[in-house]
Amino acid sequence: MKNKLYFKLKNKKIQEIAFSAICKERKNIGYYALTDQNITPILEYCKTIPERIENIAVIGIGGSSLGAKAVYEFIKPTRKLQRKLYFFESTDPINITTLLSKIDLEKTHFLVISKSGTTVETFSIYKYIYSLKNDSKSYTFITDPGSPLEKYAYAIGASILHLPKNVGGRFSVLSTVGLVPLALSGIDIQALLDGAGKLKKSFFDAGYMQDTLLKKAVFYAQNHAQYHINCIFAYSETLKYFCEWYVQLWGESLGKKQRHSAFNVGLTPIGLIGPKDQHSFLQLLMEGTRDKSVTFIKIEDFQDDIVIPDVTLKHLEALDSLNNLPFSKLINMQCHSVIEALLEEDIPLDTVSISKVNEENIGSLVYYYELLTSLVGELIDVNTYDQPGVETGKIILKQKLHTINRGE
Ligand code: PA5
Repeated sequence: MKNKLYFKLKNKKIQEIAFSAICKERKNIGYYALTDQNITPILEYCKTIPERIENIAVIGIGGSSLGAKAVYEFIKPTRKLQRKLYFFESTDPINITTLLSKIDLEKTHFLVISKSGTTVETFSIYKYIYSLKNDSKSYTFITDPGSPLEKYAYAIGASILHLPKNVGGRFSVLSTVGLVPLALSGIDIQALLDGAGKLKKSFFDAGYMQDTLLKKAVFYAQNHAQYHINCIFAYSETLKYFCEWYVQLWGESLGKKQRHSAFNVGLTPIGLIGPKDQHSFLQLLMEGTRDKSVTFIKIEDFQDDIVIPDVTLKHLEALDSLNNLPFSKLINMQCHSVIEALLEEDIPLDTVSISKVNEENIGSLVYYYELLTSLVGELIDVNTYDQPGVETGKIILKQKLHTINRGE
């Protein structure tokens, strides 16, 4: 993975402060160590799922589903996988009915994933599906040790897997939460961890990523009052759900009250997909308020050589310059044209290039964004790992539900 920054920064002292803070928190925050885990227990568990199972359905929301979905949707278009993954994340009844119509319940295993083990969305959907398939062998539960869900799973005699210690929901993709569904689909989870591990090594062992990530984090933090909107502009449809994962990671981690002041701060994530969003959001980037930074993510080798045919269309001869051009070249030319246009407007931007679509590269990208989030959180003085705002919404909903049930 390569990362080129098109903005300048000299403040070495702040970089050092951020780096030592991350080295310190690495001892307590669980996600840092996930790259070094032994995946044998996960692979052993996967062997217990019968071969006749064709679909894996995740019932979970937020950090319990978005990471696996991002990786799966990235790899899926380029590979014939062993099983299909489905994600029941929404209480939208149309969505639940539509997803259920796509799967044969007899050939589906359900992974109910909830760190807290109490999330309303997850359990409303689970209750519905369990009413259709009342067989504990069809379910595996992934949750924190001691949660109410763990107790329930023991009570019905279903399989239980645990989250490692101190791994927050949105940082859990490289734990059982993401690895179990991905391994069951046939994705190479060791390669995913190896990709993340390489990035981690480069950052902690003074490799190229250390300087790059520190500079980028300091830029975001120092300029957060002006450039408070941070767009990813990914030039591949395969990264659509990666953008959704990024929106959760960035928004839920960095939108907070500061630890040592009375101020509320935050950085707003936006996920864009090129070239589609060149024909919509780009106008706002080019001429709108100067409050956005942009990170372009591009794939160097799409490993797909379809070419625009050598055809002349009457009255459209001007478009003959497209003839014989591979689509993979066209999409990257589009990306570079937008980069040049934005540089002319002095929009702060950087480019992240990944060589191709594979597990190792998405593993690196995931870890890159997790590290960047931790660094920026430290520099803007927030608790990156809690989510009191989300919890408030959950509590109010539970109170409302309680009131309904008592007929008030
Ligand atoms: O990142 C987070 O902590 C949240 O987005 C949670 O993942 C989300 O609220 C789901 O919670 P749980 O896994 O406890 O069901």
